[in-house]
Order: sequence, then structure tokens, then C-alpha cells
Amino acid sequence: MPAPIPFTEYRARVKSLLEKMGPDTAAILYAAPSAYRSRDTEYAYRQDSDFYYLTGFNESHAVLVLLPQTETPVVLFNQTRKAEEEIWSGARIGQEAAVKEYGVDAAFAIDEIATRMPKLLAQKKIIYYPINQVRDQDLEVLKWINQMQTATRGATPDLMPLSKLTAPMRLIKSPAEIELMRHAATLSAQAHNIAMEKVHAGQFEYQLAAEYLYHYNVNDARDVAYLPIVAGGKNACVLHYTANTDVLRDGDLVLVDAGCEYQNYCADVSRTFPVNGRFTPEQAEIYQLVLDAYRAGLKQIHPGSTMIKVQNAAIEVLTQGLVELKLLQGKVSDLIAHTAYKKFFMHGVGHWLGLDVHDVGAYKINNEPVTFKAGMVLTLEPGIYISESVEIDKKWWHIGVRIEDDILVTPKGHEVLSSAAPISLEDIEQLMR
Ligand code: GLY
Ligand code: MN
Ligand code: MN
Repeated sequence: MPAPIPFTEYRARVKSLLEKMGPDTAAILYAAPSAYRSRDTEYAYRQDSDFYYLTGFNESHAVLVLLPQTETPVVLFNQTRKAEEEIWSGARIGQEAAVKEYGVDAAFAIDEIATRMPKLLAQKKIIYYPINQVRDQDLEVLKWINQMQTATRGATPDLMPLSKLTAPMRLIKSPAEIELMRHAATLSAQAHNIAMEKVHAGQFEYQLAAEYLYHYNVNDARDVAYLPIVAGGKNACVLHYTANTDVLRDGDLVLVDAGCEYQNYCADVSRTFPVNGRFTPEQAEIYQLVLDAYRAGLKQIHPGSTMIKVQNAAIEVLTQGLVELKLLQGKVSDLIAHTAYKKFFMHGVGHWLGLDVHDVGAYKINNEPVTFKAGMVLTLEPGIYISESVEIDKKWWHIGVRIEDDILVTPKGHEVLSSAAPISLEDIEQLMR
């Protein structure tokens, strides 16, 4: 099991962020609220990713305030310890431990925020706060700014999203983060192995989904990074199919896109395999083509390359292959120029991965593609989906294949973090035999 990220690392992140913010600025970050799923029953709590990235603090009802170049640059407002409430909902961190164990400079009761905030915001020229996302929070923040201005006759500060500063930081993963991501990806890949061994005709998609959930949960990955997609047969052509209600049929493929979250770090891994353990000739053709596109994309993942280069490499192989299979007609270069492949491959070839599945981080800066650097993690996920709306020989209908791995950019090239799941036709059929 990888070690949790040490609090010294959180503190170093905050220090680096404070330097980027500069003088006469403040940042206000709300912890994610707890949410009800029905009446008085809550969803499992998931901290806001930026809040977690900067603090490792996993409670709701908290606000982090950053005040660069002041006596107390890191201020936390959080719940107070209350025996009569903790008996219901468990121990809280409280103010004392927040300072001692989480390294904040000062911690106050969340109930004191309304009186303290206007003073903390005095004379700030920029306040980093993501306006227009949560209405109740906006009203609170605008009220504090208003009170601060009335008291100090100060100018109106500019509001800016803090993500401008945190997203580039989160894009490069530290060695401790990589350990957690490798673990999340490995657990997710192992679950695909288990599913390939256990899948059988007559089983329901939700029953196969349960194999994934069990493997994650029993290994302390107590939540999923996103709702698992367990899509048998034509359901694979519905890109975000999460109903998982149908029965798996002999002769069909099942596409599973599932990943766990480990200490809030996400995995996102897809495999497609035959319910009965043997690919039909048509399924094998499409699978091999997607795998060839995956391999062409993978070659482009190294420092200095870009997501566009990965996308172009995969699309070239896919288009060429679709022409060879007579699923597209025309000259490959013309078909690529007209994005003809989009009839069969309608999503991007990958995305950044981290504390969020579709993680933060720009893909282009000043219209230039962002170049890969060691420490970035992205998914690689080519696919082909043939629904019956496509006018071609019926033998191809209902084949949907996606192959998705989580790839770390290393100084010399890349590492496939989710490599524990078989990927070649032969290895899948071998495991399933
Ligand atoms: N599972 C979501 C995605 O592949 O992007
Ligand atoms: Mn996925
Ligand atoms: Mn993905």
C-alpha cells in the first residue's frame, strides 16, 4: 500500500501557491459540501479536489483562506469539536489538530467566519474565488467584500478563479501522487482480470459491475472515480451507458470502463472482452484495429510530444483500418481531413487524469498545444462504436470497443500505470480460457 502524502508536501504546495499569488491578494476555497441523496441520508463525502490538493483535509463545512505575505498566510475555518455531535457523526479534527497536524497557521470555528472574513480581506486587490459556481457561496463572499469595502473605503478587488494557478500545479504529479495513481490504476486493472475470469452469458451487467466494486472496496479504494460502464452488446455504442441493467449474451462483447479512486486519486481503465471468451472474426478485426490505434498513440507519449500528436497518430491508424475493412470509402488523407472517422470514434483520444477523472490542466496555451513533461498523467482511449444507425453490412452492427489505459509521462518516455490488465486478443482469450 502506498504511503499517504505527507503533510510537509501539502504545506510545500501551499507555499508555492502563495508565491504565485503575490502580495495584496487572498484566496477563498470552500470545502465540498456534504450532500443528501434522500431525505436525511447522505452521499459518501468527497472533498473538493483543489481543497484536498492543498490541505489533505477531508471534512466538509470548512473554508481555507490564503493570505500571502501576512503573519498568518494559511487560515482555516472548520467545524469545532462537539462531543454531543461527534457521538453521531464521528470525531472531527477541530482547530487544535488543524494547526498541529495539517500545518495551517491559524484555525477558527466556522461559525466565526462572517465576523472575521471582512477584516482578512481588507486592502486586497485580487481575491481568488470562482464566482458563479455556487450561489450561496457567492452571496456570502460578495457580502464580506462589501462589508470590507464599507469599513475601509477600499477599491473593489478583482475576482479570479484560483484554478488558473492550481491547475498547472496539479498537472505535474509528485512522486507521492504517482504512487497513489499507480495503485489506483493497478487495482482497476486487476478488477478487469477478475471480470474476464468471471464473466458468463446470462449474467447481468450489474453483477459484473459488482466484481469491480468488490475488488476496489475490499482493497480500501472505497469509491469509484466515476460510475462504472458495463455495456454488453449494443449498449457499448452508448458512450456513457451506466444503467448496467441488461443481461450479457453469448456471442456479444462487453465493454467495461471502470476505475476506482484511491485516496482521492482516480483511475480510468477500459477493456472490451467477449462474454463467452472467444472473439468472433468481426469483433477481432475491430478490436485489433483499436489496439493498433492505441499502440500508435502510445508511441507518441513522451516528453515534448502533445495530445494532438497522440490523437493524430491514433486517427491515422483508425481511418486506414476502417478503409481496409470497407467501413469507410475514399482516400485516407481526405477522410482524415473531413473527420470521417467521427462516425465510429466520436470522443477524444485522452485527457489528463489525477484528483479528477477529467483532470484540470490546459490542453492549449496561446493556441499552442501543451507539451508533455515527466510527471503528467493522461488516459489513452481509442475506440470504435458501430451502431445500427450506420449504413453498412449488418455483421458489424453493435460492436463497440474501447481500450483505455492510464499513462504516466516519464523522463524517457512513458509508463502504463494500468498495465496489469491484459490487452492483446491472445492474452484476453488465454485468460478467459
Ligand atoms: N470514463 C470516462 C472517460 O473515459 O473519460
Ligand atoms: Mn473511461
Ligand atoms: Mn477516460
